[in-house]
Amino acid sequence: MSPFQITRTLPEDATDAALRADVLQGLTTTPKTLPPKWFYDAHGSELFEQITELQEYYPTRAEREILRDRAGEIAAAARARTLVELGSGSSEKTRHLLDALTGLHTYVPVDVSDSALTQAGQALVAERPGLAVHALIADFTGDLALPDTPGPRLLAFLGGTIGNLLPAERADFLGSLRALLAPGDALLLGTDLVKDERVLVRAYDDAAGVTAAFNKNVLTVVNRELGADFDPAAFDHVALWDPRDEWIEMRLRSRTGQTVKIPALDLAVDFAAGEELRTEVSAKFREEGVRAELAHAGLELTHWWTDRAGRFALSLSTVR
Ligand code: SAH
Ligand code: TRP
Repeated sequence: MSPFQITRTLPEDATDAALRADVLQGLTTTPKTLPPKWFYDAHGSELFEQITELQEYYPTRAEREILRDRAGEIAAAARARTLVELGSGSSEKTRHLLDALTGLHTYVPVDVSDSALTQAGQALVAERPGLAVHALIADFTGDLALPDTPGPRLLAFLGGTIGNLLPAERADFLGSLRALLAPGDALLLGTDLVKDERVLVRAYDDAAGVTAAFNKNVLTVVNRELGADFDPAAFDHVALWDPRDEWIEMRLRSRTGQTVKIPALDLAVDFAAGEELRTEVSAKFREEGVRAELAHAGLELTHWWTDRAGRFALSLSTVR
């Protein structure tokens, strides 16, 4: 077996069918929505990498600090032979874990972004001759067929990406993660924490407009894949803190009254001036809430680490 293997668990046309279904459903209900996984084509993945380097976007730096300082403790607790990472993107912060997990046999990065997985996987095997990398192009909210590799397994879900799922989706998702774990396996979860509203809003509405470009990229994906005629310049990027749900909500606000045609769906969608399309939520957490959600899924939180400024947390949990 070559040290780098990439498996597509979804046929291309399944992705296509899923996009059509999501766009049809999302743009014909009120308020309009589009699900976040469609942000991440090659350009979207690249824009996200730029977001992680913005001065305003603290989560990446905060989580990297925790990983750097705690990788030894994480490795000692998990003793993993297989590291599975969901929504792995560039796998950049993961290097701290790969360094610390001395008995590691296989790294399994899982992502919908083909381009991010290929780049990250090829770089890793070139850097680390002893490591087998088995990348999976898959939707982590679907059924995950993980390769048959030695345990114990450490399942990592970093970046605060769990916050991009709505509460009901999150509960289902954590339940399905629990089902992937055997006794002795562990889950390493990155969660961004509730904090000052101004700090949060700036992280999702940066001065240089990179997040705005990222948010609008979803329109470009729909244009390319479904032949739609969205004009990204006709929408404004909006990031709002919702104190009741404790999440940041990302929206695209139509600057004028307009009609968008989506030929592949035989659909014309009317937007009123000022009408908003919700593209993503990014929930922020508290320790008690994370512990309770994990417990509800049959997982027991055993470790909780934050960065020194207390902005972001990593938790480790095991099967109860
Ligand atoms: N873990 C990285 C990247 C976070 S961005 C970090 O912390 O910096 C979120 C990542 O999840 C992107 O790479 C995106 O392509 C991926 N992703 C989003 N929704 C997904 C889904 N439903 N299934 C699989 N991957 C998904
Ligand atoms: N998981 C990231 C987060 O919630 C994704 C993200 C960062 C994002 N900035 C964004 C998603 C802007 C949509 C728009 O922080």
